[in-house]
Amino acid sequence: MNDKFITLLTDPQRTIHSYALRRGRGALKNIKCMKDSNHFLSCEKQIHEFNASNYQKVVCEVGFGMGESLLVQAINNPHIFYLGIEVHLDGVLQLSHGIEENCCHNLKIIYGDACYVLGSLIPPKALDCVQLFFPDPWPKTKHHKRRILRLELLDAIKRSLNNSGTIHMCTDWAPYATEMIESVQLHHDFEIQEHSVNAPIGQRELTKYEKRGQKMGHDIHDLLIKLSQDC
Ligand SMILES: C[S@@+](CC[C@H](N)C(=O)[O-])C[C@H]1O[C@@H](n2cnc3c(N)ncnc32)[C@H](O)[C@@H]1O
Repeated sequence: MNDKFITLLTDPQRTIHSYALRRGRGALKNIKCMKDSNHFLSCEKQIHEFNASNYQKVVCEVGFGMGESLLVQAINNPHIFYLGIEVHLDGVLQLSHGIEENCCHNLKIIYGDACYVLGSLIPPKALDCVQLFFPDPWPKTKHHKRRILRLELLDAIKRSLNNSGTIHMCTDWAPYATEMIESVQLHHDFEIQEHSVNAPIGQRELTKYEKRGQKMGHDIHDLLIKLSQDC
């Protein structure tokens, strides 16, 4: 591939994905702009060397969608550094434009598979919080294996979180909330600190998929997860 083009950072060995890649019109036209843009950590080397020591905290959002809520969060919290990981190219491009328009210096995008990025590329213990907001529920039983929240993702997050780090997960899909809780309980290095229903934890922004869930009358589950004491 021409090296003006940014590539999706993913593990070539992985066969089951938590996403289906789709590219809207216009994405291909814009993709070549990305590599030169400083809104991205666009290769393994840049991610390995990532350093945000001038900031009070580093927060990483997995699967930011179109990025609206992540951008607002970054603008409202200039003392926190944000990393957004996403595989959906239209979302990546929209967030990149948002960063440009708002001269936002505390948010960088990684175009990649979060399992690979958190498990292999981010410097160990670099993050204070990982946000997983409204991941695709893959509701059909035959697709449950594609849900992003698996023990493998928890292992990858464990590697990238510092000792007092947390994971903040939300879903509007009740069976997925149950699966999230069970996965955390199965992974002995994490424990659930708080589980609330229709009462957001912290001051998070309303996301696009949350609004959609609310319109359908779904309960919104927030889970705050921390590393176990004896880990
Ligand atoms: C249902 S959307 C939620 C978007 C946003 N968080 C919200 O609440 O509006 C889930 C997003 O996760 C992304 N995604 C799925 N698997 C991913 C992965 N392995 N790495 C990064 N992003 C992923 C999808 O492309 C999609 O944009």
